[in-house]
Amino acid sequence: MQDQARVVAPNVEFYDAQPALGNSRSELLAGLRQTQKKVDPKWFYDAAGSQLFEQITELPEYYPTRTEIGILKANQQAIAQHCGDGCLFIEPGSGSCEKARLLLDTLRPAAYLPLDISADFLRETAVQLGHEYPWLQIMAICADFNQDWPFPDNLPAGKRVVFYPGSTIGNLEPQAATIFLKKVRHLIGEDGGLLIGVDLHKSSQRLHAAYNDTSGVTARFNLNVLSRLNEILDAEFDEGRFSHKAWYNEAEKRIEMHLVSDSVQAVRCNGQYIEFDAGETIHTENSYKYTVEGFAELAAEAGMSMQASWLDQQQLFSVHYLSAAGSPV
Ligand code: AVJ
Repeated sequence: MQDQARVVAPNVEFYDAQPALGNSRSELLAGLRQTQKKVDPKWFYDAAGSQLFEQITELPEYYPTRTEIGILKANQQAIAQHCGDGCLFIEPGSGSCEKARLLLDTLRPAAYLPLDISADFLRETAVQLGHEYPWLQIMAICADFNQDWPFPDNLPAGKRVVFYPGSTIGNLEPQAATIFLKKVRHLIGEDGGLLIGVDLHKSSQRLHAAYNDTSGVTARFNLNVLSRLNEILDAEFDEGRFSHKAWYNEAEKRIEMHLVSDSVQAVRCNGQYIEFDAGETIHTENSYKYTVEGFAELAAEAGMSMQASWLDQQQLFSVHYLSAAGSPV
């Protein structure tokens, strides 16, 4: 790891552990060969997809981002007390680091470690952040948090706090979410913490609207994944022959997003063909919704205990501080 570190600004180091393209190809192809075709939502976020997601966060129907920002701002003192002075603030899937920015001045972490799979975007964001916060040590790591990545060994001392906002955990099925939480628990050790944003249960109308906005941004975000497939798999998906579909699956307590094929078609993909029936879908995302109690139970299964929860007045969204106390069951 050390030899891969590059100093890209006086207070910014950049570690490149980007997953190899070959792995991406076989992962994507395996998903497209399943009975229910699927693509992991992490593939949404190329430059175009990240921009579309930024637009989603500003939609009137999409309440999670502005609600979570409100919660973080209103409770930053209490949050900082839980995190403690001079923590190592680690953010998997950091993106534009907007939410970390809200807390950095209050938290004063000994180091900030943003992790993202998008190398160029991460490096540019980290350099910019380094300018804005000259006192802050930044160690940006280009890696897939869910795969193995070496940890920088020149870290300053400090309690490890993982920051996982945005209800990104909602992308994971409960079993995978437990595995993720166990990984976090291992990473932070006995005295560390997890500051996590989790979207809450609410009326299915409100949920439906948030993923079916009237301006069609979510549809474009969903369809953009086809251009990722075209690029990575050297494939020939035609955006005009698929459409966006999202609904709230009450039984599973999750939003499901799919891309629906408009007709029978065979799409050339890495020298082979992937066949679609009319109406057949690619499942592109799950977005699970929790109650506070339900999430506390999930966390307990991973050996984490809920120390504090902050909600907005309408109880649309929640932010929790979990500690690694307790052992996994
Ligand atoms: C970033 C995964 C939390 O599930 O709400 C937004 C992604 N997908 N609109 C979510 C998303 C469609 C978002 N997460």
